[in-house]
Amino acid sequence: MKKKIIVTGGTGYIGSHTAVELIEEGFDIILIDNLYNSEAVVAERIGKITGTKPPLEVFDICDKLKLNRFFKKNKDIAAIMHFAAYKAVGESVNKPIEYYRNNLVSLINLLEAMNQYNIPSMVFSSSCTVYGQPEKLPVKEDSPVQPAISPYGNTKQIGEEIIRDATSVIQNIKAISLRYFNPIGAHPSAIIGELPRGVPENLVPYITQTGYGIRDELKVFGNDYNTPDGTCIRDFLHVVDLAKAHVIAARRLVENKNRKNYEVFNLGTGKGVSVLEAIQSFERVSGIKIKYTIKGRRPGDIEKIWADPSYANRELGWKTMSSLDEAMKTAWEWEKYIRKKNLSE
Ligand code: NAD
Ligand code: WQD
Repeated sequence: MKKKIIVTGGTGYIGSHTAVELIEEGFDIILIDNLYNSEAVVAERIGKITGTKPPLEVFDICDKLKLNRFFKKNKDIAAIMHFAAYKAVGESVNKPIEYYRNNLVSLINLLEAMNQYNIPSMVFSSSCTVYGQPEKLPVKEDSPVQPAISPYGNTKQIGEEIIRDATSVIQNIKAISLRYFNPIGAHPSAIIGELPRGVPENLVPYITQTGYGIRDELKVFGNDYNTPDGTCIRDFLHVVDLAKAHVIAARRLVENKNRKNYEVFNLGTGKGVSVLEAIQSFERVSGIKIKYTIKGRRPGDIEKIWADPSYANRELGWKTMSSLDEAMKTAWEWEKYIRKKNLSE
């Protein structure tokens, strides 16, 4: 029998890509999303890619009543992949209570449901943000977690602690936290991808929107960092590679191959790329020159960070397959798709 997996935030950016991979690997999935930051049509597009349109339940997982109703109706769930969260770092500074409420109440509700409805496992979307500016690079999983700079980052740290504490005493539940570095790009079909609300905070959507002419120019936040070209360094990984890691994590839990009740993995390429190198990559794959100006540093920015993914390589048998240019190319294809789609609607 196919294993049933619940994907919260399933019409969102990473959730939708993971849904595709899960279906293609033979899992039976149900998406839950309140469509706060995504659109229901994404479920149809997942169906178009895979040939199987997953059911989508539209509700807020902070709503315990609705969540209980859902789990009473849907039995024999093997795992929850928990992507649903608010994720805009800047916004979280101005709306801390909304962020703590949405990101933590949702998680607590799910953990309680796991205990109550015998759901044995969870994969949690965590972030490299928990490391702050690491003293040593590349970052291993046992690098110290630093005090969070934003309420968003804090929700990931607290979220991980809640899961660690819960899985240490509730014997019938186990979890894996995946600390993503910087996911970029889109599915090669270019019909699902990242959908930023308003002006993007993140670099790659800002680059692709500038390339398309929606933004006049890109502001590069600082070129006086202690890095080879003076701009910040990140570890950009293709979202499809990231999605595939989730399938492996799910299988590890469902097939009881996990070593401990709670495990943490870094998911990155292991390679640092500067902001200017990211711009050059876009220019290479699109043939479009990006107009940019150097501005002051963005408050709270980390100078440089990239992953040591060797633990995930070894334990999960996972590594990234796509190059920066390949990922950037799909980000560009997606940008063009979504703009044409919006124009024709
Ligand atoms: P996203 O905003 O595209 O997807 C999240 C989805 O969750 C959205 O569709 C939204 O509508 C839904 N959602 C939010 N709160 C909900 C709630 N209470 N009930 C039901 N649905 C709700 O974000 P994403 O980029 O796909 O990120 C997924 C997860 O990965 C998040 O937890 C995020 O913090 C984490 N993460 C993302 C990145 C990144 O760069 N994108 C990096 C590290 C970690
Ligand atoms: C990358 C670099 C910017 C926009 C975010 C979250 C973090 C985690 C990963 C979720 C930085 C520069 C950006 C622009 C620029 N996500 N930049 N001009 O900083 O790694 O962090 O994603 O958990 O929590 O904060 O990614 O894409 O915002 O920025 O120069 O218009 O690009 O200064 O150096 P970051 P990012």
